[in-house]
Amino acid sequence: MFISRFYRQGAHTIKSLIKAPAFIPKTSHIPVVHNRHLPALRHESFCSGAAKQDSEEGNQENQKINVTFVDKDGEETHIKVPVGMSMLEAAHENDIELEGACEGSLACSTCHVIVMDMAQYNKLPDPTDEENDMLDLAFGLTETSRLGCQIIAEPELDGLHLAIPSATRNFAVDGFKPKPH
Ligand code: FES
Repeated sequence: MFISRFYRQGAHTIKSLIKAPAFIPKTSHIPVVHNRHLPALRHESFCSGAAKQDSEEGNQENQKINVTFVDKDGEETHIKVPVGMSMLEAAHENDIELEGACEGSLACSTCHVIVMDMAQYNKLPDPTDEENDMLDLAFGLTETSRLGCQIIAEPELDGLHLAIPSATRNFAVDGFKPKPH
């Protein structure tokens, strides 16, 4: 009997607390929960997750891959290319002679490069129709030809070797038209 009275008294107390206007916080502050473990763990979990993501993004941004350009004389230039940068931009930043007349707007084929390793070529995303259209106009097209402005540095492309063809053909920008054979 004492126990049942105790429970009833408890239920009554809870009801009256819920009804009582004084129970509603008067300020907009969220009441602090004095649980030594749960809030701390939640906070830590959120922060470490966000920090981890930031750090991963930071690492990705700071990450660079090794790329080798081989010019028409067979001379190699080794450079480090930040992930996310196109091979055309990387070439220009490193004074490598890769023309890029349309500055990456897929209106020329002067950024034509040849991926020297088929395995590396296969790691690249497939060329778009627009890229293929421009590649069709490229001088010395090969089966591993791509446009340098469309190859974006990704971690899996580390060690990429790109040959620069001995000539480029530029219809769109300088109006050059090849003579019929
Ligand atoms: Fe013109 Fe790449 S720079 S298509």
